[in-house]
Amino acid sequence: MEEIIIHGGHRLEGTVMIDGAKNAILPIMAASLLATSGVTEIEDVPILADVFTMTSVLESLAAQVGFDQTQQKLQIDASGSLTHEAPFELVSQMRASIIVLGPLLARLGVAKVAMPGGCAIGSRPIDLHLKGLRQLGARITQNGGYIEARATKLIGADIYLDFPSVGATENIMLAATLAEGTTFIENAAREPEIVDLAIMLSEMGAHISGAGTETIKIVGVKSLHGTSHQVVQDRIEAGTMMVAAAITHGKVLIKNAIGHHNRPLISKLTEMGVTITERDDGILVEGPTHLRPVNVKTLPHPGFPTDLQPQMTVAQLMADGVSVMNETVFENRFMHMNELRRMNADFEIEGNTLLLHGKADLRGAQVEATDLRAAAALVLAGLVAEGETRVGQLQYLDRGYYLLHQKLSRLGADIRRSDVDENGEERPILNAL
Ligand code: EPZ
Repeated sequence: MEEIIIHGGHRLEGTVMIDGAKNAILPIMAASLLATSGVTEIEDVPILADVFTMTSVLESLAAQVGFDQTQQKLQIDASGSLTHEAPFELVSQMRASIIVLGPLLARLGVAKVAMPGGCAIGSRPIDLHLKGLRQLGARITQNGGYIEARATKLIGADIYLDFPSVGATENIMLAATLAEGTTFIENAAREPEIVDLAIMLSEMGAHISGAGTETIKIVGVKSLHGTSHQVVQDRIEAGTMMVAAAITHGKVLIKNAIGHHNRPLISKLTEMGVTITERDDGILVEGPTHLRPVNVKTLPHPGFPTDLQPQMTVAQLMADGVSVMNETVFENRFMHMNELRRMNADFEIEGNTLLLHGKADLRGAQVEATDLRAAAALVLAGLVAEGETRVGQLQYLDRGYYLLHQKLSRLGADIRRSDVDENGEERPILNAL
């Protein structure tokens, strides 16, 4: 089994580059299905398991996809005729595949996508996706574990989202680009990845305004064409590195990091005593010898991102005193805490509220990831734990981080990734995928 093996206690110092955002590239790849002419070229593509899965989904729909990993470039040609069914075995691997529903429906008038399952962090319903598509005129049925959507023509509508769902906002936005008339999405998600998707769609010829605010306006057009687009930097990877610098009393420059994409984290780390300097070339993070406790509540953007919650709980454990973490977005996102308890963390969970007792005397242990951001949190805990930490189930980590161990090693961490057999024999792994 592959493991990341860490010996804690090393201060991080130096400069780290951040890849393109996982949560931007996936909807952007789905958007390429809307181009009936030309080729879509995407740069700064992160080399992640989810990108390979989405590539397979697009190819199963008969799009032509070329992924130049050394250049981190994707070329997608969807100008030919597409099929309309996304297969179960791919959607079950990655629930985000549901994002092809909107573009297929808009382009072909029909779409059949396997119903995505839940995952470790929650049941992950898609009722808001379907509500929006129905309001655009789609007839949607569910049978045999598949969602079938049909529409002779999509008509613009005023759609209110009960919750500012990222996926629902994206699916509706994608479908509305080719609808007849104007669509308003009220209480829309405001994440930077929504803005990046809207920029790409506008480059393809769509008429979109208001992305990044709670109201997005889309005026339908007849067709969209290919374009070239550079993926926005991954604010969650950048935030993960900021926490790594903060807890190791380090001094790390997060190259080209965008301050306003991580305003909540920067504010909270500053409250804890971390020195954060926003410069032209990125964000410099200097961790103090002592961290102050801080209370955090996750919220949709521009609130504190749920995708940085597990990582932040490690910083709170390292603070001198009691901190509170309140997770309001997902119903089961404290799974990493069971593993942190095995590293001697002391905390109580009351529903979606976590009471964390710092300063923790974390001890290295064999731990297992349960989901993507939990995996990152366990690696961070290993950086500051006494002794050796071994993190397993790295398939979760590979969904959202590329060569995290290498990036941390270059900053001074004692960390490696190895394939460990039943006798404990190690074979070093240099490349994760
Ligand atoms: C996106 O998931 C991200 N994934 C998640 O990142 C992220 O945590 C989440 O947005 C919130 O920011 C991608 O972009 C691929 P939501 P998504 O729809 O779209 C409820 C990571 O670690 N909801 O905003 O699925 C839902 O149950 C991953 O990178 C409905 O009730 O998130 C949840 O409680 C994890 N009905 C809340 O909204 C719906 O129809 C947020 O979900 C849709 C969602």
